[in-house]
Amino acid sequence: MSTSTAPPIPPSTLTLLHIPATGALTLTPHPTPTPSSTQHLLSTAATSLTRDELTWAEPLSATPSPIPGYAFAGTILTSPQPAPFPSLDDETDYTPTPLLPPSRARRASTSSLSAPHARAFVYGTRVYGLTAFSRPGCARGMAVAEASECARMPANLTYEEAAAVPMGALSAWQGLFERGGLEVPDEEYWETEGEGRGGEEGRIEAGEAPRRAPSTGKRVLVTGAAGQVGVWAVQLAAWAGATVVGVCGAGNADFVRELGADEVINYKTTSVGRWVGEGEGRKFDLVLDTVGGDLVPDLKAAVREGGRLVTIAAPVEGLPDAYFIVRPDGGILEGVTRLIERGLVRPVVDSVWGLGDWKRAFEKVESGHSRGAVVVKIE
Ligand SMILES: NC(=O)c1ccc[n+]([C@@H]2O[C@H](COP(=O)([O-])OP(=O)(O)OC[C@H]3O[C@@H](n4cnc5c(N)ncnc54)[C@H](OP(=O)(O)O)[C@@H]3O)[C@@H](O)[C@H]2O)c1
Repeated sequence: MSTSTAPPIPPSTLTLLHIPATGALTLTPHPTPTPSSTQHLLSTAATSLTRDELTWAEPLSATPSPIPGYAFAGTILTSPQPAPFPSLDDETDYTPTPLLPPSRARRASTSSLSAPHARAFVYGTRVYGLTAFSRPGCARGMAVAEASECARMPANLTYEEAAAVPMGALSAWQGLFERGGLEVPDEEYWETEGEGRGGEEGRIEAGEAPRRAPSTGKRVLVTGAAGQVGVWAVQLAAWAGATVVGVCGAGNADFVRELGADEVINYKTTSVGRWVGEGEGRKFDLVLDTVGGDLVPDLKAAVREGGRLVTIAAPVEGLPDAYFIVRPDGGILEGVTRLIERGLVRPVVDSVWGLGDWKRAFEKVESGHSRGAVVVKIE
């Protein structure tokens, strides 16, 4: 049982403020945010940046001084008062939120895992999550997050590694399982299967019937497969049993294969359209796109009849349901925590920068060639 309590909260905290009128960013002490009755105040240890985030419509229209960095890893300073849900006494008492029971998981392709996730954390708990784009973000010493946006941080990760997870993992999960038509593996599969296809620990013992991954036989194409979202899309689709083809540069081909891709397309030498046209049965049940732009016509053509194109890059003409915006969801992240702790998936950190080095961190992320997430450490 935790006996410690939060120290006095300083009135201000070092904050990376975005001034939309000038486009400038400035690092300055700023008032510590006041959590609402459903929010935690967090001591932020790390955040991650996302390409183009300084131009996203929602933070710009919703708040006069947005703060970048919507993923966070840190510790709980205060809990919602009164706690809307039963609190956890401490981390050691923690019991993972049950994921969907097998009977529901079978029908879960459009389901969120957030429903069972309804509780608050106590002072000192290590948490991670994604905060809503309508509120100022997490590139500051203290930030607020809804209880429903938080999940217990994987015990085997550093804060910097944990901050690399939420944006990519949530975008990929929602793209694959909620919009893309892949099935969330059932509870039995989570406990007993998926240790990496063909990996040592996943070996099937003699006489044991192999459990069928729910997406076996489904073909998934992931563009930007080495990027912040792509690395999660490749890993989660492979974990679910799909045949995964990743689109990336030559320098990332081995890396993307190692994440679980069965094949890679080097976009610098081969177009998706040409690759698909070169063999029978090369079209996809699901194309999960993180790149957009000139790729889109080829991607549309790469979807087999009855399949889907899902994208986080930009709306697609003629396919109003293809584009979506990721939503925060601590329930999904609780599941991701379980997968990470079992070594079934892992975060990919491109680089870690100090908060004072925010300019170089943004230059890196805006280069469009990072591998995994660009993380900012908040001392
Ligand atoms: N709608 C949403 O909710 C949402 C959520 C998150 C992100 N986004 C947006 O989605 C986009 C992707 O985000 P991200 O964070 O994953 O990006 P990212 O990390 O910046 O992606 C970088 C990766 O993209 C690869 N890449 C660049 N051009 C490519 C091409 N033509 N084909 C294949 N791969 C290519 C690069 O590989 P090489 O180095 O090998 O070139 C690099 O590994 C961004 O525009 C971001 O703003 C939207």
